[in-house]
Amino acid sequence: MVRRHNERLFSLCGKTPTAHIRTFGCQQNVSDSEKLAGMLSEMGYAMTEDPLSADVVLFNTCAVRENAEDRVFGNVGALKASKEQNREKVIALCGCMTQQPHIAKKLRTSYPYVDLIFGTHSIGRLPELLWKKLSEGGRFVDISQDELSLGEDLPVLRDGSIRAWVPVMYGCNNFCTYCVVPLVRGRERSRELSDIVREVEDLIRAGYKEIGLLGQNVNSYGKTLNPPVSFAQLLETLDQLPGEFVIRFMTSHPKDCTRELIDTIARCEKVCNHIHLPVQSGSNRMLKAMNRRYTAEQYLELIDYAREKIPGVSFTSDIIVGFPGETEEDFEDTYRLIEQVKYYSLFTFLYSRREGTKAAELPDDTPYSVKQERFERMLALQRKIGMAHHQELVGQTVRVLAEGKGKTAPGRLWGKNQQGVIVEFDGEDCLIGSFVTVRVTQALQWAVVGIAQQ
Ligand code: 5AD
Ligand code: SF4
Repeated sequence: MVRRHNERLFSLCGKTPTAHIRTFGCQQNVSDSEKLAGMLSEMGYAMTEDPLSADVVLFNTCAVRENAEDRVFGNVGALKASKEQNREKVIALCGCMTQQPHIAKKLRTSYPYVDLIFGTHSIGRLPELLWKKLSEGGRFVDISQDELSLGEDLPVLRDGSIRAWVPVMYGCNNFCTYCVVPLVRGRERSRELSDIVREVEDLIRAGYKEIGLLGQNVNSYGKTLNPPVSFAQLLETLDQLPGEFVIRFMTSHPKDCTRELIDTIARCEKVCNHIHLPVQSGSNRMLKAMNRRYTAEQYLELIDYAREKIPGVSFTSDIIVGFPGETEEDFEDTYRLIEQVKYYSLFTFLYSRREGTKAAELPDDTPYSVKQERFERMLALQRKIGMAHHQELVGQTVRVLAEGKGKTAPGRLWGKNQQGVIVEFDGEDCLIGSFVTVRVTQALQWAVVGIAQQ
């Protein structure tokens, strides 16, 4: 209905309208943006990279840290002039940031040229909100939390043709004390197994070679389904689908990462031997204050078990430095844990105070310069560990999914192996989208370089 209205509206102005979507934050947002693009495209919009000339500009925002929010405000501010030149331009904000009442209020009062504001629960309402805006004018805000639809019927316009993101669950029930996600994305909801299987089958048929399963805590997938299904069962089912493809997933919460799941990863041929297992801190005192519900010892036991069962498994992690009350000893516990686990790579963050979270109420008296110095020390350690991983690979043969043109030299392609290592190698463009066996010859800090084998 809305589509028909819009087509009529656009045919009146005689040109194809354009839309620009910019995504901030995590892969879940990337996936949501693919749905937003799907809806805009069904409404007759052509996607453009240029926010200044676009008829509709949509920012899909992130609220996890303050600097992500600042970037959005900066980018919205930069659109003011183009809106003044073209009063018909529609500026829309959606995603996690808008779902916070204090941010929605700030947008309403200080950014009058933002026309549509809608939250993570309302993405399916984009066509209706846009239609209202175009036909009635004015501003529309929808940040209600009631819409709990899983968006099964929304169209998807995917970003790439090799790797596809497939959300398996939405929301989070964990309430880590620093984290705003449960407040903005609501409680856990899992998709039906049959819906996920159907989507993955379609993707494989369409030629996708890597399926990235998404959830804030994939390990609690299916607990609320009737009858309940486990994440291990989901992996096993997808692993049995015919075709040449690999399966990745994120994020696993260590408290729910069971031995059953590790055994399943070990058994499933298509599931990559890589686990993103955010530890956040190596200090039990900090883990408790963060409400993570595991100890450093339990975490290390899990790592040992996985290393025993899954030969060559690689781990990546998220670490927060400077959580309120973190002492030098707490930080050193984290440093030692990183040395012990030897992550393939780390996503490292300086603690950012988030309104509405428990940690926001804690006293935080560590000077910023001290936090910054700890952060730098950790990065230096990880640089050394990452380089050592790459050096170990020299002389070995790896299987790589070629994803695009490389950066290190003309005529090179790049791809990732099962463990997530970036591999550059000489190869023809026709190899993009296929699996290639590569012998590694050189280690760089951020990648390895090799020669494709016949
Ligand atoms: N400050 C810093 N980092 C945070 N993260 C989540 N909330 C915060 C915060 N308030 C990090 C965690 C999480 C990742 C996605 O973002 O490490 O695993
Ligand atoms: Fe945030 Fe913790 Fe949930 Fe991850 S598990 S989204 S860090 S509350």
